[in-house]
Amino acid sequence: MAFKVIDPESCFTSSVIRDPKRFVGRSDLIANSVTALNSPQGLIAIYGKRGVGKSSLLRQIQDLATGNYELVRRAGLAHIIPPKPRRYFTVYYACDSIITNANDLVTRLCNDSDPLDGLLRLVPDGGKELAEFTRTDESTGGFDLKVLKWGVREQDATKYSSAVPGDIIQTFRNFTNAVVEANNRLFNKRDSVLILLDEFDVIKDKAGLGSLIKSLTSDKVKFGICGIGQDIGELVADHSSVDRLIEQGAVYVRPMTMPETEEIFAVATKLSGDRLEFAPSMVRRVSEFSEGYPYFAQLFGRACVQEANNRGTNRIDDAILDVVLSKIRSGQAFPNLEAKYQRAIGASDDRAMLLTLLAEQSADETKFDATLGQVVLRQSRSTAQDLGIEYIDQLLPRLIEERYGPVLVKTPDARGLYEFTDPVFRTYVKLRHIGN
Ligand SMILES: Nc1ncnc2c1ncn2[C@@H]1O[C@H](COP(=O)(O)OP(=O)(O)OP(=O)(O)O)[C@@H](O)[C@H]1O
Ligand SMILES: [Mg+2]
Repeated sequence: MAFKVIDPESCFTSSVIRDPKRFVGRSDLIANSVTALNSPQGLIAIYGKRGVGKSSLLRQIQDLATGNYELVRRAGLAHIIPPKPRRYFTVYYACDSIITNANDLVTRLCNDSDPLDGLLRLVPDGGKELAEFTRTDESTGGFDLKVLKWGVREQDATKYSSAVPGDIIQTFRNFTNAVVEANNRLFNKRDSVLILLDEFDVIKDKAGLGSLIKSLTSDKVKFGICGIGQDIGELVADHSSVDRLIEQGAVYVRPMTMPETEEIFAVATKLSGDRLEFAPSMVRRVSEFSEGYPYFAQLFGRACVQEANNRGTNRIDDAILDVVLSKIRSGQAFPNLEAKYQRAIGASDDRAMLLTLLAEQSADETKFDATLGQVVLRQSRSTAQDLGIEYIDQLLPRLIEERYGPVLVKTPDARGLYEFTDPVFRTYVKLRHIGN
């Protein structure tokens, strides 16, 4: 095939994956999700490290909930699709740190008029026009509802028929109760409402969130929560109240396996209409560098396609990857990560060295002890001082302070232990220094 310039964005992306065609791997988690969606009650909880692919999975669950099981068939799991899958009207909401507590959260939900994802769009209101749409371009897919037109420009929750002034929880109940009945009169019948809450970990005061979710869950309302954490307890402080709800719905998103990461390149080839060709050794190396974080594979993919375009080829081999690697070392390849890196090291070579030492510890031992102004590197059992880095007490604070990132945080489980807040950044630091 003759060379053609390929738009890197058409094959790789740094955004959340919505299109099932771009979604790679995770077949065990997809199977879990199908089970969780098809149990009448129960809470879905998606958790895992930063940047590992949680929101992408959540968006796929939203799509499954509307009845589009394309992803499941694609994953070779057609046999697990129930004869009559439960179908949902879906709500998706990304929390932010201004939401302080459970009450705030419900207030936000009851006022969210987003035309594709908000709860209000589904609540009966005379002046509103709803229409079905597919969340992906799959025409075989399930349909969701979007608002075409609001009758009145200024929307405030009180004009909705069943809003109860001063009682946001009751308002929420009334809204969600009304959704299924009212929309089933007009559209294909569905069983329930699914409320997906992304970035759930940022809610400051987690007290009572579990019991609130429990009290609001019914055979007409199911919740799915998603956020950074190693276990349910990090997402929901009073998780004991939802433990029984969560039995089938706990979805831990781990870093990808090598074959999963490698498949990102096979998908890119498909998306390019089979124009792009990736040398297997190049794909293997990128998958190793990525350490299971699909974000990195996508980033490398994009950079390599760009480089290949510059050279007038659609075949991406190790030579092209080497060019990208050398651009990483000089800080030119990934501007966002580089900016974060520069802010963290604050023009100090010693701090850059310390940061690299920390990043180079093997994945789960990135944790290190920083008590007594010493940094004990667990892997080598030596201190950073032994390795020639002086003045740790002056180098370390910048890495821990919130306004510079922070790059490192105390682990919740053990005292005096720190780890990288962002595994993707940790990987970048390592690559930045390979061979330097
Ligand atoms: N299944 C997948 N297949 C291909 N790429 C993926 C997949 N999951 C995630 N990615 C890619 O990985 C990156 C991170 O994904 P996502 O935003 O879903 O992660 P996250 O865990 O929600 O991150 P954060 O902790 O920052 O919220 C994105 O670039 C996305 O395109
Ligand atoms: Mg996310």
